[in-house]
Amino acid sequence: MLVLGIETSCDETSAALVDDEHILSNIIATQSVHSEYGGVVPEFASRAHIKQLSLIIKEALRKAEKEFSDIDGIAVTYGPGLAGSLLIGLGVAKGLALRLGVPWIGVNHIEGHILAASADAKGPDYPYVCLVVSGGHTLLLLIGEQFSYKILGRTIDDAAGEAFDKVAKVLDLGYPGGPAIEQKAMTGNSRAVHFPRALLNKDNLDFSFSGLKTSVLYFAQSLDKEELVAKIPDIAASFQNAVVDVLSQKSFRAIEKYNCTSIVLAGGVARNSALRHRFEEDCKKRGIHLFIPAPELCTDNAAMIARAGNMRLRSGYQSSFDLDVIPNLSL
Ligand code: KG4
Ligand code: ZN
Repeated sequence: MLVLGIETSCDETSAALVDDEHILSNIIATQSVHSEYGGVVPEFASRAHIKQLSLIIKEALRKAEKEFSDIDGIAVTYGPGLAGSLLIGLGVAKGLALRLGVPWIGVNHIEGHILAASADAKGPDYPYVCLVVSGGHTLLLLIGEQFSYKILGRTIDDAAGEAFDKVAKVLDLGYPGGPAIEQKAMTGNSRAVHFPRALLNKDNLDFSFSGLKTSVLYFAQSLDKEELVAKIPDIAASFQNAVVDVLSQKSFRAIEKYNCTSIVLAGGVARNSALRHRFEEDCKKRGIHLFIPAPELCTDNAAMIARAGNMRLRSGYQSSFDLDVIPNLSL
């Protein structure tokens, strides 16, 4: 089943074509307009989606060597995300579904992240644990069967990606902060500064990153300008190490508690090579199967939405035309 996926929930305008097995194209336009504001400006995001989306869809078709008439179904993110941005994707998806006379489905963006890895040839065995770490979410999930998500833990304040973005702001590294921190950390010493690992001694699977962010802020404020610039690689590496420690320890607690043999890592922060590396090592030691999407499928993209949509449509789900966007949609 050839599915066109559309993703416009935040600041990536993306369209993709997938069939039951392969990603045929995945075009992603990252909006650069936000970088000078240090975060996403919703109004600008909507305008950029309006400008780009039809061109991106055409490009996705061209790259996949397909025509509109080849499309069997349409998948589009309907939440969570920015209302104005989601509306643009949903409006285009409904219009195309009407015109082409094909079924369509609204996809939960978080499910898209989760299924980006699990749709691979040999996916994880049920039940498995999934850690979703993005700019908006930090969730530990137990997935007992297809499309069934039990939340085991979540952040009680900032999301992991949000912490990367806020720390990057403190260090004046620009937006988005994750890639910039990762790059600086490469030449830093991850044991140079001891930052706190919150909630590790609590008997739950929740996370907290706001204290860590504040700790970095206080540490940065204790240095003069020159010292700070010199110490940025060490601060970035130490901060990153603290995040990775907490994410991996809590994830393996979940695996043990629920007797799982597979884990999926998903969301934009799963692009981080220190995090990927730590999970690879820890899983190898414990004989756990690890599934992580390719880096370009971790951050927002339409292929993950198309894949989730393809799986849902083939399982008999579809949306009706009165479906609206849900900006605060949960799993
Ligand atoms: O999944 P995503 O593209 O969007 C949301 O659904 O939120 O995730 C974006 C988040 C941002 O906070 C960004 O800083 C973070 O993922 N991120 C990274 C890396 N690449 C993106 N964080 C750490 N290391 C990276 N390499
Ligand atoms: Zn996302």
